Amino acid sequence: MLVVGNWKMNLDLAAARQLSSAIAASIGPLDTVDVGMCPPFVALDAVFAVLHGTGIRLGAQNMHEEEGGAYTGEVSASMLRAVGCHYVILGHSERRQYAGETDQTVSKKARKAREHNLVPIVCVGESLPQREAGTHQAVVEKQVMESLSGVDCTHASELVVAYEPVWAIGTGETASPQQVADMHGHIRRLLEHLFGRAVGSGIPILYGGSVKPSNAQELFNQPNVDGGLIGGASLRAEDFLSIVNAARR
Ligand code: 13P
Repeated sequence: MLVVGNWKMNLDLAAARQLSSAIAASIGPLDTVDVGMCPPFVALDAVFAVLHGTGIRLGAQNMHEEEGGAYTGEVSASMLRAVGCHYVILGHSERRQYAGETDQTVSKKARKAREHNLVPIVCVGESLPQREAGTHQAVVEKQVMESLSGVDCTHASELVVAYEPVWAIGTGETASPQQVADMHGHIRRLLEHLFGRAVGSGIPILYGGSVKPSNAQELFNQPNVDGGLIGGASLRAEDFLSIVNAARR
């Protein structure tokens, strides 16, 4: 199981140090669960210093698809590696919505991330109108196939997929266990098709969207749910630790 906190655009440097220290101090053994933390860019270095030696892995929330150069305001894969990142979240619905990211840019980013030995956490998920129209499986299938097009993955540990229905993000509304199981099963079949059974069957598929201490256990118990990508609840040490504990059992 894998639990990753996506802090989004929250917490200044001092608060980032405080939260990561509080989580690191109480995380306990990491033999049955992997844990990641994705602070904003400006806190990566400081949080890496806190996490170093704890087994909790650092991740970024985005990166640019090019190697480097004249891309004002952007951050490259090698820069993320240099500050200690293991993961990078790519194609989050907020970036698809507010920064115009497409499956094509996500695929370029994921390929570049792999070149630099970063593990991409590729996010997919349908909107509410798409769910209501019954097109959610087709929408997510297209996102998975196109976002992962050309991505090299020879070991299951080199890639993570996160299913985050847009209507469940930050809304307090969670997809039902059955909806989650259905979609995760569908994504599993796609991953096995793309990367072969041996690799595809082991790639972690995380659920994201209003995961909290009260619902984590039930969601994590669903087939093909290998953990969670946690937004709001990852900003409170107690809640995040309780979700990590749910993944342990
Ligand atoms: P919430 O947990 O705040 O709904 O956010 C989910 C998410 O977008 C994680 O990437």
